[in-house]
Amino acid sequence: MSILIVLWFLIQLLNNVNCQNVLFKPTQRYGHSSTFIDGKLYILSGRDDAGAARIGKEFFFIDFSVPFNTQNVLSYDLSSINVVPSHVSAATVKGGANNKTLIFYGGIPYINNKVAMSLVYAFDTQTNSWAPKITSDNLIRKGSLTGIVDDNGKAYLFGGIFVEKTSFNDMLILDTINLSWKIGNSSNAPSPRNAYGATLLSNHLIIYLDLTNYEWYIPKISGTIPGTRYWHQANVIGKYMVISF
Ligand SMILES: *[C@@H]1O[C@H](CO)[C@@H](O)[C@H](O)[C@H]1NC(C)=O
Ligand SMILES: *[C@@H]1O[C@H](CO)[C@@H](O)[C@H](O)[C@H]1NC(C)=O
Ligand SMILES: *[C@@H]1O[C@H](CO)[C@@H](O)[C@H](O)[C@H]1NC(C)=O
Repeated sequence: MSILIVLWFLIQLLNNVNCQNVLFKPTQRYGHSSTFIDGKLYILSGRDDAGAARIGKEFFFIDFSVPFNTQNVLSYDLSSINVVPSHVSAATVKGGANNKTLIFYGGIPYINNKVAMSLVYAFDTQTNSWAPKITSDNLIRKGSLTGIVDDNGKAYLFGGIFVEKTSFNDMLILDTINLSWKIGNSSNAPSPRNAYGATLLSNHLIIYLDLTNYEWYIPKISGTIPGTRYWHQANVIGKYMVISF
């Protein structure tokens, strides 16, 4: 093979690496969002105890669609195309018309809410591109809440907190396909809270909101009930709701 052909291959290889799949070594953070789409976990912003102006701008994904080693996960940097200002505690879900779009709501910008930050962003993981600026109704910005998306692409955003204000117990409902908002009926809603865990059951209940007729209720629970906590995660595995940390 001539040296020119070898060079051409090398240049192509470098180009591919430069385009998007730049390997990346993420550092510890908190207050970031993580969204699992198509075998990839997308991690956006957050901060560390050093203040972390750098971490706030980071956007990367970890590819779990290929065999991986927990000591050495493959992360790919998308920070150069990130358009979301540095923030913590946003809510994200997988949605959109292709059901492979990262839909982002709220979050608390680093600098006292003085940063121009949209309420909603959408990142199409098929084309690796952000949707043009999304303007939303005059809804309040909130953080420290958990986004739950149902089978129809509707994102349920309960409670949360706004900078220096007390918690909420309202339910915002964002249709991630046509990006229209609704407000859920607050009758019997849980008391105001943030940093809670929530998960969707296969029978269309968010623990514990019945989505079929949109009705809050308190389930009957037996056994030893664990103490209250915050900043945990809730997931459903088989018939169990698993609370971690
Ligand atoms: C999106 O994909 C999930 C599975 O990953 C599926 O359960 C859900 O019904 C899909 N939603 C839409 C709106 O197609
Ligand atoms: C968006 O879709 C929902 C059904 O999911 C419908 O009720 C609503 O009217 C639509 N809104 C717009 C602005 O198209
Ligand atoms: C809200 O839900 C309650 C209880 O289910 C019901 O009585 C009330 O009519 C609902 N309000 C609206 C505006 O739908």
